[in-house]
Amino acid sequence: SSTEYIQYHGILLPLQAHSKESLEYAENFSVKDTDVFAVTYPKSGTIWMQEILPLVLNGGDLTPIQTIPNWDRVPWLEEKRLAMVVDQLASPRALVTHFPYRLMPPSFHTSKAKVIYVMRNPKDVIVSSYFFHQMAEFLEDPGTFDEFMDKFLEGRVLFGKWTDHVKGWRDTELGDRIMYITYEEMAKDLPAAVRRFSDFLGRNLSEEVIQKIAEHCSFKTMKTNKMSNFSLVPKEYMNPDKSPFLRKGVAGDWENHFSSEQLARFTSAIRKEMESASFSLPWSM
Ligand code: PPS
Repeated sequence: SSTEYIQYHGILLPLQAHSKESLEYAENFSVKDTDVFAVTYPKSGTIWMQEILPLVLNGGDLTPIQTIPNWDRVPWLEEKRLAMVVDQLASPRALVTHFPYRLMPPSFHTSKAKVIYVMRNPKDVIVSSYFFHQMAEFLEDPGTFDEFMDKFLEGRVLFGKWTDHVKGWRDTELGDRIMYITYEEMAKDLPAAVRRFSDFLGRNLSEEVIQKIAEHCSFKTMKTNKMSNFSLVPKEYMNPDKSPFLRKGVAGDWENHFSSEQLARFTSAIRKEMESASFSLPWSM
């Protein structure tokens, strides 16, 4: 299968899911005031949010997560599927995007749409991405972990540099339209995270519904949901025999994959990039 990429305003995107047309569509997309975006750098909790958001928005009705594949249920702003499913989206609409802040469409800025930005420890992001490159047949072979680390730190990977993404989404004009959460907070206490989403989105869900949502969005349950575990995707696109999409689902797996030399190199590069940031990372780096 093909592993071609498109260069779009300085970032790299796989042609399997993106095209000139889909990016034009995203640029001209009419964001509604009621839209909710989950924004992530790749491998930071996107699929997880595609499970959680519909349930929070509809009061815990399981129908969408049990009947609609995640990519059509909460589509990516930048991907080809959006134009095909936009008329079928539940209201209020939930979308995901990996776009850096600078690439969000004009209508997003003038709208009142809300944003949940999920950030994940970059050490776990790179490990998750490395395995994803092995199983996603439409992505270039990542080479050795060492080689992939060079690419990651230089931003020669999908959606560019991790540090540019997290910094760009911090310095916004969005005010109380954006909330920040980490993958690690979600992993530590999912009901508490769901409660925060519910409050942020003005949903006022009962404790019972929050518990139910958390149960259905656990790693274990999602792995058995064929609408969310990518088993519907043909093996020539994603091969779970190489590595499952829902791979480990934990914080801290990087410790099993970094050498001490790699840890030093990674840490010092991220620290340097974060010197110009307006916030500090919540993990020791
Ligand atoms: S993508 O390709 O950018 O959309 O990938 P993304 O969904 O952002 O990230 C995939 C990682 O998220 C993990 N994941 C979860 N972890 C814990 N609980 C739940 N419910 C969950 N759902 C997805 C998934 O396993 C990938 O992380 P790794 O570390 O590879 O397991």
